[in-house]
Amino acid sequence: MIELADTSFLLVPNQNVHNPDIGRQGWGHVNTSDLEIIQIFTTVQEIVNPKKVIEIGMFAGHSTCMMFQYFYNVEKIVSIDPNLFSKRASLPIKEKFGSKFQFLPTRSANLKKVLPPDNYDFMFIDGNHNEPRPKEDIQSAKDLGVKWILVDNVELPGVRHGCLSHDLYNIDYQPKFFFYQNYHRGRLSPGIMGLFKL
Ligand SMILES: C[S@@+](CC[C@H](N)C(=O)[O-])C[C@H]1O[C@@H](n2cnc3c(N)ncnc32)[C@H](O)[C@@H]1O
Repeated sequence: MIELADTSFLLVPNQNVHNPDIGRQGWGHVNTSDLEIIQIFTTVQEIVNPKKVIEIGMFAGHSTCMMFQYFYNVEKIVSIDPNLFSKRASLPIKEKFGSKFQFLPTRSANLKKVLPPDNYDFMFIDGNHNEPRPKEDIQSAKDLGVKWILVDNVELPGVRHGCLSHDLYNIDYQPKFFFYQNYHRGRLSPGIMGLFKL
């Protein structure tokens, strides 16, 4: 029997509020009760066995909870997000996971300056999907010596270009792709996550 990640303590975003001054809340997020998504995170656990994790784009913390639930050897998750909403959303997550969780209110392009290297072995990339952000996200993983990255929404042009600009579809990066479907703002969209070994 599959145990779902507990998200009951997370701040609930209001999809209709997307004002940068009070925090953008209209972003999509992983559906923590979707079997396809659970399968992706459990497969990553089998292949990578992540211990020290960086998350680009925490938003409300749903994917953070997935990683705490299914990465059962995880020692630390550092989540970053410049979103004012995420700053508030990080507080109950910190309360629940304590020293295993760190939130940095920054964007990926600044990450190298604010986070010292610490043998990070895995990064989940789910920030801004438009160019040049995905390219910057991947660069931040390389700068910190991260070994594996899981990139959400590689079906979107900006993310695909970011991956191609780092040559990630080259077979040397051992790409693996995972398909899922997600409801957001009344629409059902296809999504693809790509797992790459840097
Ligand atoms: C799709 S949401 C993340 C959803 C979350 N990963 C989940 O599934 O629960 C994207 C988030 O990325 C953040 N973001 C946008 N640009 C970013 C950047 N350059 N670095 C880090 N986070 C960024 C946004 O503020 C937003 O909260």
